[in-house]
Amino acid sequence: MTEGVQPRAAQQAPPWWKSAVLYQIYPRSFADSNADGTGDLQGVIDHLEYLQWLGVDGIWLSPITVSPNADWGYDVADYCAVQPDLGTMATFENLVAAADERHIRVLLDIVPNHTSEEHPWFVSSSSSTTDPRRDWYVWADPKPDGTAPNNWVSSFGGPAWTLDPRTGQYYLHNHLSEQPDLNWWNDGVRAEFDKIFRFWFDRGVAGFRIDVCNVIVKDAGLRDNPPATEDDDFEAQLFGQRFVYNGNRPEVHDVIRGWRRLAESYDVARVLVGETPVKVDTMVQYYGDGSDELHLAFNFPFITAPFAAASMRRIVEDTEALLPPGAWPAWTGSNHDMSRFASRWADGDLRKARAALLMLLCLRGTPVLYQGDEIGLCNATVEKDDLRDPLGVRYWPAYAGRDAMRTPMPWRDVPGGGFTDPGTRPWLPLGPFGGCNVEAQRSDPESMLTLARDLIALRRLSPALQTGSYQTMAAPEGVWAWRRGSGVVVALNMNDHGVTLEGTRGHIWVGTDRARDGEDFDNRLTLRGWEAVVAGTT
Ligand code: GLC
Repeated sequence: MTEGVQPRAAQQAPPWWKSAVLYQIYPRSFADSNADGTGDLQGVIDHLEYLQWLGVDGIWLSPITVSPNADWGYDVADYCAVQPDLGTMATFENLVAAADERHIRVLLDIVPNHTSEEHPWFVSSSSSTTDPRRDWYVWADPKPDGTAPNNWVSSFGGPAWTLDPRTGQYYLHNHLSEQPDLNWWNDGVRAEFDKIFRFWFDRGVAGFRIDVCNVIVKDAGLRDNPPATEDDDFEAQLFGQRFVYNGNRPEVHDVIRGWRRLAESYDVARVLVGETPVKVDTMVQYYGDGSDELHLAFNFPFITAPFAAASMRRIVEDTEALLPPGAWPAWTGSNHDMSRFASRWADGDLRKARAALLMLLCLRGTPVLYQGDEIGLCNATVEKDDLRDPLGVRYWPAYAGRDAMRTPMPWRDVPGGGFTDPGTRPWLPLGPFGGCNVEAQRSDPESMLTLARDLIALRRLSPALQTGSYQTMAAPEGVWAWRRGSGVVVALNMNDHGVTLEGTRGHIWVGTDRARDGEDFDNRLTLRGWEAVVAGTT
């Protein structure tokens, strides 16, 4: 047996989500079982065999609850019912049961910051200033001159306040005006979300991805945000202000601690994965003391970093250094908002995409793949007339929105891509995908998909890859290399030219060039441009 690899039985089991590979499904674009052009929950059930073959341990589904789709499910009108075009509660229960048979856990997306304007709570809240649910949302009087209560801007652009002519007050929305923000100072809101969490946990949901969990609590005094200065980051400059009072408030941590207690009250603790689009030093605060807030937090500076050795290494080192003891990183390269890594990091260059995949699956932490990452799917081009994302519709052509990374999964090289029937128009176009499809890659030992599957299988065999420490190694310019535990080395040559890494001996387990699997090296590990390997050391 190679050092660092042990049979499963000999391992000491960490919590399941620490050694897991998670996989994000955007249900509307995964698989359409009833040929209406929209992916659905039955489509997910139909592809569980594939997910088990790939080796993922858990899936998180972008919202499946009732929504008028102003923001494609992220505007919820009923937190405890399934959106009809995605399925029924019975289909969902079948999904959880069928996934369980294949040892795959199901996580859902929860959106606590805001509801849909069509949610009965908001319908009630906006009906009068004395409505019992009035205080469930953030309402405020206009300034004496009739303008908005403060200077906050929406993260989707424009003012964060809309005047309700009926009651003469403004309501707050950090996103679209169709997404009014809940008032998390209200105990009724908090109690209701505890019930919603339990509702799904009791139905076998293994955890939640929590939408923009860092902004749910706002400054109680609704103070103006300070203006951006020249020294501020791009985001502050873009919006003209620093997001000081409408997000990352100290009180949000009380809410998250409450959710953590709730999650831990189940015999198999449910996992909380937060969407935390903030800098690393702020992101790590959402882990609390390492045991009392989020289990996992998405690392956005990592996603947006240039795919170069120095920048990626620095973010990983900073994250490792700043995380509280016991906290566990999460690494992701793509999601339904942030573009696909095969485009953003790799610019369609398969060598880079393969190196990125190896990186994600070999860092210390939980990798979260987005559907299509495993086949190296790039962003699609979506024409103006086909746009569905409200941001694309609003800002095109300056910004085409997020449709390019939400296009349907190409399963086979046939019209409709095996996503939907050949004669059906999918809700978003597939774009030309050619060989970038599951069927073609599944039988190809050299493919990105086979690489993904083999790396996931390798993680399962190697406790060092699952839970071993991360330690940067000295490496030539443009090379990022690290040890996992004591017996594993991972090296990425992020140069166009070849390099030699000296001072380590071992055996390549998996390389992005599969011809090198099984190769021994003794003090000199040579890597061609954009080549990466994971190796056992001797
Ligand atoms: C999150 C979601 C995004 C959505 C936004 C508002 O960032 O990932 O898709 O538009 O929240 O809910």
